[in-house]
Order: sequence, then C-alpha cells, then structure tokens
Amino acid sequence: MARPGLERQLAIYGAGVPPEHPIAPDEWEARAKAILDPGAFGYVAGGAGAEDTMRANRAAFQRWRLRPRYPRDVAERELSIDILGTPAPAPFLLAPVGVLSIVHPEAELAVARAAAATGTPLILSSVSSYTLEQVAEAGGDSPRWFQLYPPKDRDLLASLLRRAERAGYRAIVLTVDTTMLGWRERDLALAYFPFLGAQGVANYFSDPVFRAGLAQPPEADPRAAVMRFLDVFINPSFSWEDVRFVRDTTRLPLLIKGLTHPEDAEEAVEAGADGIVVSNHGGRQVDGAIAALDALPEIAERVAGRVPLLFDSGIRGGADVLKALALGASAVLLGRPYVFGLAVAGADGVEQVIRNLTADLDLTLALCGRRAVAEIDGALVSRVD
Ligand code: FNR
Repeated sequence: MARPGLERQLAIYGAGVPPEHPIAPDEWEARAKAILDPGAFGYVAGGAGAEDTMRANRAAFQRWRLRPRYPRDVAERELSIDILGTPAPAPFLLAPVGVLSIVHPEAELAVARAAAATGTPLILSSVSSYTLEQVAEAGGDSPRWFQLYPPKDRDLLASLLRRAERAGYRAIVLTVDTTMLGWRERDLALAYFPFLGAQGVANYFSDPVFRAGLAQPPEADPRAAVMRFLDVFINPSFSWEDVRFVRDTTRLPLLIKGLTHPEDAEEAVEAGADGIVVSNHGGRQVDGAIAALDALPEIAERVAGRVPLLFDSGIRGGADVLKALALGASAVLLGRPYVFGLAVAGADGVEQVIRNLTADLDLTLALCGRRAVAEIDGALVSRVD
C-alpha cells in the first residue's frame, strides 16, 4: 500500500459511477440515522448534557490550520507506525466502542474482520456484544488491544486481564473517565439503555469469576445477572491506587484513557502507564469539559515524550489526524465514523471508512509536503483564532 490515496482515487473514479457507499463521514452518519432505530442512533451519535463538549471537540480542530509546504519530493511515503510494539499501517487505531450489537448483528466480529483486512489495530471494548475470545478469533493474527472498564470486584478485574492476555491482546487500555455514565439526554429521553436488555455484557456473562458471584447462571436469571453487571460496572471509588493495582496485575503495556488534565497525565506516568489516551470520550461524559484537542498540547508539553500519547474525540478526516499528530499525538483513535460504517454496511462499511481515511490521510500528508508520519511536527500547524 505504497500510495493508498492514489489507489483509492483511481478505484473510485475508474468505476465511473458514484460509489454505492458514502465517502464523507457526515454522509455515513446520515445513512446510519436513516436505518437505525432512534434509540440506537442516539446512543452512538449523542453525548452528555447539551452536547457542548461534543461540538467543542470538532470546533477545536477549526482553530488549527495546516501549513502545506511546496514543492517537495513526496513521491515515496510512509504512513505506518509502531505504537508500543504494535504495528499499524497508518497512525490510527479503532477506538473501543461498546455494545455494537445495537447497530449491526455481527457487531465487533465484523469490526474485527475489517480491522484484519486492513491491518488496523482494534481496541476491543470491555462492554462488547461478543466475548473477547470470539472477537480474537474473528481477527486472527491482526493486532488487538483490550479496553478495560475497571470493575469494582478486583477478582473479576484480574480475570478479565488474564483472559485478554491469553486471547492475544497486546495492550490494556484502562478507561478512567467512565466509572459511572454521564447524563445523556438523548438516551434518557427515549429511556434507551441497551445494557438492561443484556446487550454489551458478553465478557461478564462468560467470565468464571462473574458467574461464580451469581446465585443462578445468567442464562437462568438474566435480569439478576444484568443487575450484578451494573453493580460491578459502576465504580465511583476508583482511584490512582486502583490504577496501580491494574498496573501490577498485567504484564501487558498499560495505557490510561480519558485524561485531559496535565496533572493527571503526570500521575499516570508516575503510576507506571506506558501510554496515555488524551480523550473526553467523544463528549459523552462531562458536558462543558474542555475539547480534547485543546488539552493535547499542554499534556504533550508535560509528558515531554516519556510515554506516547494517543488522541481521540473528534477525528473525522485525514486533516484531523495530521493536526493531532502535529500537536503531540503519536497516533489517534477513530471512533464514531467506523460505527456508522458498521451500521450501514457491516464489515464492508468499516473497511471502506478505514480505507477512505487512510487515502485522505496519505494525500493530505503528501500535499502538505511531508513523506512520513515521522516528519510531522508542530510546524505543520498554525493556530488561527
Ligand atoms: C464509546 N467510547 C468508549 N470508550 C471506551 O473506552 N469504552 C467503551 O466501551 C466505549 N464505548 C463507546 C460507545 C459509543 C457509542 C461511542 C460513540 C463511544 C468512546 C470512544 O472510545 C472514543 O473515545 C470516542 O468515540 C471518541 O469520540 P469520537 O471521535 O467518536 O467523536
């Protein structure tokens, strides 16, 4: 895939007819809205409160502009990266997104197949619709990381980590911004909460420690099992001491996801994190919180290269990836856009979204006068408020 941009352009233009599936991320979202039930669409598309932070995530990208340099020889390009020992063909991974059965019956299995077809690393959510072992099997040898929502019960936490290690997940992404759910007005207005219908609980219902804590197996009493799931999931006493427990309980690289404050980034490094995901969960947790991109430069300055920074919350196109890398990220996570691809066209939709982003990124990088991800630095952007 030396020139993914040109190859994709030629494939699409060469067909001579408009492609069956959308190109623009907003168009994938519009198609998903047209086919999903309102609850499922709102769950994916929505954020916390008045969704100010969700909008701020996108607005923050508008305040940074790329500075193309011409003419430069950009014929040979290199998009691939290595992040904590995991190779990626382009500087993005698929963000952990839970409970994907609400948008497509093949859910995370389809995402794993699309990730494998493109070599894109997948970060599997704790609250997936299929078990982490099933998703590992669907993805084959393709790289995968496991995202952990830390349950209250430390034995269950250790069991999930053990299973992820055994199933070939190469890193743990500990999400610390969701020890309880944010106030999500779209979901509340529709009383839409898929977990109560026993969706997104596959890793728990299949876990020996979780099952041992139930009076009856989940198959016999799903309602009680869901209540137990909610009880262990909601974990507001989670603290840095618990982060250290997670650090000591896995031999895999550990990333902390959901930080937007430089002091927390410092604490994460001190707690032994191998990486940080600067993120506000796509504006789904704290409405009014700082846009993730606005938090990135100060975190990059504070961490000063001691551990790699990943970034998400608002990545839609190639220019967004470049801006995040220019402001200090080593890689980004793609979130909602691939979920809309899944909703519209299953594994094929996810693959198309990945290929379009890669092509866009490749061309935009080259047109900015850079040949490789390694050549991206702060000089690629200017702030324009
Ligand atoms: C998420 N996100 C998320 N994060 C996580 O660590 N574990 C999870 O299970 C989920 N689940 C989830 C569900 C849905 C429907 C969405 C939209 C998001 C957050 C996700 O990893 C990422 O931080 C955001 O999606 C980034 O925002 P954008 O770029 O998608 O707007």
